[in-house]
Amino acid sequence: AYRIAVFASGRGSNFQALVDAQRAGVLGGDICVLVCDKPQAPVVGLAQAAGVDTYVFQPKDYASKEDYERGVAAELARKGVQLIVLAGYMRLLSPVLVEAYSGKIINIHPSLLPAFPGKDAIGQALQYGVKVTGVTVHFVDGGMDTGPVIAQRAVEVLAGDDAETLAQRIHAVEQKLYPEVVSWFTGGRVSLDGRKVTIVE
Ligand code: GAR
Repeated sequence: AYRIAVFASGRGSNFQALVDAQRAGVLGGDICVLVCDKPQAPVVGLAQAAGVDTYVFQPKDYASKEDYERGVAAELARKGVQLIVLAGYMRLLSPVLVEAYSGKIINIHPSLLPAFPGKDAIGQALQYGVKVTGVTVHFVDGGMDTGPVIAQRAVEVLAGDDAETLAQRIHAVEQKLYPEVVSWFTGGRVSLDGRKVTIVE
């Protein structure tokens, strides 16, 4: 099967959605490792409960980002990883991973990029007062949420929304969209030419 690494730093609701999709037989791939930069993150417990191997590290134990990413890259090579799925991994990748896995790293972000990149995209959208926000899945390049867009879904901001109610609807959309996009990869249906992304029917 297609070999997938999920990178996450936090709660792990997208990680869990991917695991559930694999169990349901609709992911078309095998999540062979969770990579996590926060030993205490809830996602680590979810991986253990799901029987997914974990590679957990602390950036502060390394001299540089390049150093810890070389450790991650070695683990990915051992596992024969073909696709890196960032799911709430709250760090920029260095060229060590971006160049080794060029065109094979995707990220999910809780806004319609290029609006509201970076941290707290949902809070940024509320603060700005937009009436529509959403979810973006995109290829990862060296920038902050700047890579070519693969899929987007709109989510309306409702009059009574606060950060919690809006986040709830955005997360529900993410959990449906991300496994679907990963299945496009495992099915060989995504191609990238410069910034142009094509999804084959
Ligand atoms: C998700 O909403 C994801 O889109 C966001 O972090 C959350 C992780 O939730 N990612 C970013 O903001 C990346 N810039 P989860 O740990 O429950 O999947």
